[in-house]
Amino acid sequence: MRRKLVVGNWKMHGSLAQNKALIASLIANLHDLKNADFAVCVPHPYLFQAQALLQGTNIAWGGQHASRFEEGAYTGSVSARMLADFGCTYAIIGHSERRVFMHETNITAASSFGAALKAGLTPIFCVGETLEERNAGLTETVVESQLIAILNTLGTQVISEAVQQRAVLAYEPVWAIGTGKTATPEQAQAVHAFIRKQIAERDAGVAARVRIIYGGSVKPSNASQLFAMPDIDGGLVGRCSLDPNDFKEICRAAC
Ligand code: PGA
Repeated sequence: MRRKLVVGNWKMHGSLAQNKALIASLIANLHDLKNADFAVCVPHPYLFQAQALLQGTNIAWGGQHASRFEEGAYTGSVSARMLADFGCTYAIIGHSERRVFMHETNITAASSFGAALKAGLTPIFCVGETLEERNAGLTETVVESQLIAILNTLGTQVISEAVQQRAVLAYEPVWAIGTGKTATPEQAQAVHAFIRKQIAERDAGVAARVRIIYGGSVKPSNASQLFAMPDIDGGLVGRCSLDPNDFKEICRAAC
């Protein structure tokens, strides 16, 4: 039985004062929820604050990106080792907003995934199709090519290593992110099952263990139905992770 995971993705929101208040509410709201894993992925400058405030609680923290490079002359970049230095458990990798606005590709995302694993982090690797791709019937082709990028870039060995380090996959249909439009539980389940099947074709044991979480307008009103699906192991939550009551309801739905 896979334990569910709910991760808040704060994106580029927050300030020292806002984060302090939000984290205090999250700690108060989630401390008695024992049957799932929780985390928040904060903007990099606030990692120190997240570590200071969340240490010893049942909420882990992480970054929203990690460089594919280990170290060096890469102005503006943050390495996976630096995230680990601040006690991060997770790093979101290959989020569609980074693919669109920061020109990340399947190859760079796959390299970042490898760098995160090497630094001992749990990468949350995002895949998902645009509306045009879905309408053209290309959802599975797109998702498969995003997954295969990991294999081609890093080799098959990485899959079992990844699962040993509890790598997480996130299915995030681009058309559902920040739009208020959620994939129906059936639509999401179909793609989650497809992803698991792709992995099972290479390693059935890994496929049974890997957590595949859903992202894209997860909210209190749809979290329970999504999380009830057999291949949906939790959520990656954007907008509703900034509201402690909404986030609490979503986390409760995972328990
Ligand atoms: P959203 O974002 O919940 O605001 O749609 C999800 C995500 O981008 O991870």
